[in-house]
Amino acid sequence: MPANRVGGRITVPGDKSISHRALMLGAVARGTTVVHGFLASEDCLATQAALESMGVAIERQRDGVVRIEGVGGRGLSAPRGTLDLGNSGTAIRLLMGLLAGQAFDSTLTGDASLRQRPMERVAAPLRQMGARIATSDGGRPPVAIHGGASLRGIDYELPMASAQVKSALLLAALYATGTTTVRSPGPSRDHTERMLESMGVRLEQSTEGEGHTVSLTCPGALRAREVLVPGDFSSAAFFIVAACLAARDGLTIENVGINPTRTGLLTILREMGAKIELRNERNLGAEPVADLHVVQSDLRGVVVPPELVPLAIDEFPILFVAAAAADGETVVSGAEELRKKETDRIAVMARALQAVGVEVEERPDGARIVGGDIRGGTVDSRGDHRIAMSFAVASVRASGPIDILGTAEVATSFPNFLEVATAAGLDVRAEERA
Ligand code: S3P
Repeated sequence: MPANRVGGRITVPGDKSISHRALMLGAVARGTTVVHGFLASEDCLATQAALESMGVAIERQRDGVVRIEGVGGRGLSAPRGTLDLGNSGTAIRLLMGLLAGQAFDSTLTGDASLRQRPMERVAAPLRQMGARIATSDGGRPPVAIHGGASLRGIDYELPMASAQVKSALLLAALYATGTTTVRSPGPSRDHTERMLESMGVRLEQSTEGEGHTVSLTCPGALRAREVLVPGDFSSAAFFIVAACLAARDGLTIENVGINPTRTGLLTILREMGAKIELRNERNLGAEPVADLHVVQSDLRGVVVPPELVPLAIDEFPILFVAAAAADGETVVSGAEELRKKETDRIAVMARALQAVGVEVEERPDGARIVGGDIRGGTVDSRGDHRIAMSFAVASVRASGPIDILGTAEVATSFPNFLEVATAAGLDVRAEERA
């Protein structure tokens, strides 16, 4: 029986992807960019520190307001030492694109998890543009960029739908002669495109079947503008599922970004029988937002369509929890990218769900999860923020307490998770472990 009753009204912090982009584009724009709703999480603070070390003045004021004094396209200066992007794949990959065409050398690295993640997916097309860039053993960080290269536009076909690679190439294109075209096999989040356009950059975009193409021709200066950051859909996702499992009278999550390149989880959960209403749909700057109202429902297992994977890429840990609590089997395929995230999310989620009594068959590109009872137990997130938060949600359906190891990294994306979770009715607390 659910030990907790989920409900009420909550807000989640600002969108991580948009906060990174606001910092980077604001830094190289002309004029002052004021950001509202900025996510002051460890990942975004790593991007801030990197830009500050290249001479950008960034002032964080109260309540998520950040002022960035843009230095213009050619105004960055050589960093004071190696840039450490911590746990953040978005920070390192987007900065690789931004720094490939600068006049100075730079070296980028990160924590033990980031140093295991693939960087050639960005470095290889940047080299085709003329960048001089070297990755370390196995194509991983540290990444060394030699400045002074002259970049030229390329026509590049991405092997997978990846917003990070697409965005890195668009950032490099700001410094390239000619036109850069990025072709994706499917849609991926388009926050970079929306923000570039709002700063006066003209893009050509087209879709053909599942495929998506974007082209940028070396623009003039980016114009600073106000950026309004919606609540992060990927943070809201934990509470959407918690409410599906236990909000008898409903839970409302206010001001959540509902950019259609991010909301694949809504489609999947609705297919599972979730009751989710979008209220008060509106635009916040360049992005659509809504208040989400979610009421408890009996979920049933589904076969997740592979084409939805890029639109729900960060939500699979919490979707696995929804599947574990559903009636019947859920099958995920076409999701091998999950093995390249902060952890190998297929393997770590499978182990963790098994530790609380859930039957899971791990597959190379996904998993088969048999819904049913969730027991108490100890799970190890292996330092993956989204896995740790997913098991806090699993606890609303578990027959005993769940101890979650490796929760410090929650601060990379959702520093006040405990506070928001408590406000939503979850019974979670932090314990110090030696
Ligand atoms: C992100 C893109 C996605 C996502 C990541 C954030 C971004 O990565 O998983 O958390 O901000 O562009 P990929 O582009 O590697 O799929």
